[in-house]
Amino acid sequence: MSNAIEYELKGDIAVLRANNPPVNALGHAVRSGLIAGLERAESEAKAVLIVGAGRTYFAGADIKEFGKPLLEPGLPGVCTRIERSPLPVISAIHGTALGGGLEVALGTHYRIAVPSAKVGLPEVHLGILPGAGGTQRLPRLVGADKAIEMITSGRHVSAPEALELGILDEVEEGEVEAIGLAYAQRILDAGLGPRPVGQMPRPEVVDFDTAYEAAMKRGRGQIAPATAIRSIEGACHKGIDAGLEHERNLFMALLNSPQREGMVHAFFNERAVSKLPELKGVAPREVSAIGVIGGGTMGAGIAVAALLSGLDVTMIERDADAAKAGAERVSDILQGSVKRGKLTNEKFDAIMAGRFRASDSYEALGDADLVIEAAFEEMGVKKTIFAELDRVCKKGAVLASNTSYLDVNEIAASTSRRADVLGLHFFSPAHVMKLLEIVVAADTAPDVVATGFALGKMMRKIAVRSGVCDGFIGNRILKTYRTCADHMVLDGASPFEIDTAMTAFGFAMGPFEVADLAGLDIGWATRKRLAPTRDARERVATYADKMCEAGHFGQKTGQGYYVYEKGKRGGTPDVNVTALIEAERRELGITPRAFSQDEIQRRYMCAMVNEAAKVVGEGIARRPLDVDMVLLFGYGFPRHWGGPLKWADLQGLDGILADIQSYAKEDDFFWQPAQLLERLVAAGKTFDDLNKGDTV
Ligand code: 3HC
Repeated sequence: MSNAIEYELKGDIAVLRANNPPVNALGHAVRSGLIAGLERAESEAKAVLIVGAGRTYFAGADIKEFGKPLLEPGLPGVCTRIERSPLPVISAIHGTALGGGLEVALGTHYRIAVPSAKVGLPEVHLGILPGAGGTQRLPRLVGADKAIEMITSGRHVSAPEALELGILDEVEEGEVEAIGLAYAQRILDAGLGPRPVGQMPRPEVVDFDTAYEAAMKRGRGQIAPATAIRSIEGACHKGIDAGLEHERNLFMALLNSPQREGMVHAFFNERAVSKLPELKGVAPREVSAIGVIGGGTMGAGIAVAALLSGLDVTMIERDADAAKAGAERVSDILQGSVKRGKLTNEKFDAIMAGRFRASDSYEALGDADLVIEAAFEEMGVKKTIFAELDRVCKKGAVLASNTSYLDVNEIAASTSRRADVLGLHFFSPAHVMKLLEIVVAADTAPDVVATGFALGKMMRKIAVRSGVCDGFIGNRILKTYRTCADHMVLDGASPFEIDTAMTAFGFAMGPFEVADLAGLDIGWATRKRLAPTRDARERVATYADKMCEAGHFGQKTGQGYYVYEKGKRGGTPDVNVTALIEAERRELGITPRAFSQDEIQRRYMCAMVNEAAKVVGEGIARRPLDVDMVLLFGYGFPRHWGGPLKWADLQGLDGILADIQSYAKEDDFFWQPAQLLERLVAAGKTFDDLNKGDTV
């Protein structure tokens, strides 16, 4: 028998103990071990207990096996084999019973868990549906509506809730194997036998069509949740065997889909992105108290993120009034967390009374282990601040700038301790957004970089390493695809058509809606800053400048590309913008042409991929996966495509390069193909090959 399942006979009860660290994923060895253990138990025991060693029950199928040839026994067969055992089979659950893990538990006849355990069917987050009976057995226990909610959201359900729903039979404090054995003994003592969920009555039919439509709409192109609903529907109409077959067919179609590849890429790389080979063995510096310079939206958000991760925070503003306003902002955000039930009143009081202070004096930063500057985005301002930090901060303190564009080398040079300086680029609102770009300057010490990543982990951010360039990874790529959108507008597309096309692609918002949200003055300031060094061949749309000159800065002024009415969600297209665009086209002598949704999406994505390839080629991002995670966690890129470079791999790089080359016939300045892309196509390789260590 495989070591992945330990077998032990304890009296009348055979214990099948999974031992496949770290999460007891149900790989081939575990599945065969379960079958072998069951067979042996049936020859010598009266009941079977399935339990996990280490930190958890089974956390699901082994995701690393997806896309490889399926090895027998498959998980659906294992669950059915367990369900059909003549002996009562009991699951004792701790940690997480997720996906295939919960499906194994649903195949067993009785389920007990410790109170801290969580169960769920999160398969849709991997682009698939529960494919080992989850869509058939769960609705028999909880009803179709609840099953739809759990499976389409993929949420983790706590043991007490699972007990209430009927997924668990008992919840008990204690050591998991001990409570499992005692429960199994009670079942034997009561003379109870197998109780197969698959033989329970079919769930009642609900309004599946409405649920399907809603899931399609919410999914913004992601098909797994809606497909799962069709599988649950099967449970209402079919017996268990036919229902399982229906589920299997839908599961296999999703397993072989590009969306599954994209989602699994996202799953592994959101974990891989912060593990840098060069930081192996490098200890981060100790951080327990931090300083934040600036109490505006960004500074306050950073302060809150730090406070919620247990750090002490000192906020510095230019005078007492500004410090007070900054403190109020922090307090307001934290109060919001209290209202949403995420923070208790006691914790709020403790933070505001003991762990947070605002001051107008840099001297208050003497004890700070790390300082994050989130002041006005101007080099002169940054240099003055860093000179002050150099003066007041203790030796070894890490000095970070939250700049989104500026040269971190130049900022570091305004101190006498360049090795301690790096960029920590948060995204607004900083206490919500997951992305943190860690900008490594020429002289940043490795343990300072490690400290940035350690801070990211404490704050539960997705931290990505970036080199220094204008806009770093994310904003540099954003600038390029936004420019591509502007060119399409000049040539005949409307901003609203572009927003519609890109939300249909799967983005949460289109580029013009995003601009309205961020404030049009930001882009305006960038355009002015870059104007002196702009290449004469660059096509620049100026209608947006005219909007700004008229004081239309987007949502905050009630008008931008869209008009926003008080109390209404979202905006309606502003006709004045159309007039400005038409005037600019006339001035430039452009005869507008129609753009199909496909063409808009293709050009926009080609621009994004091309710039991303340059960012990787120049070493600003070390790996394609770094770019993918930046776009996923900071820019609303649809997760089911895995990121722009995974998307590109899935489309075929040769086709993308060919399209870029054809667009270059119209504008060979903007559409200069990235050399890395050309090399990959020539070598017949993908971006993902580079993630795996290949070179071209
Ligand atoms: N398969 C393979 N590896 C897995 C895995 C799985 N199902 N789940 C986690 N891992 C790996 C992670 O990649 C990570 O590896 P690393 O250390 O090399 O980076 C390691 O296990 C530890 O994982 P985390 O860092 O995520 O540990 P946490 O303690 O933070 O979280 C967890 C644990 C909640 C179990 C989380 O890992 C998780 O959500 N895992 C995925 C669960 C899941 O989606 N299950 C369903 C799988 S699909 C399925 O079952 C199909 C079936 O219906 C047929």
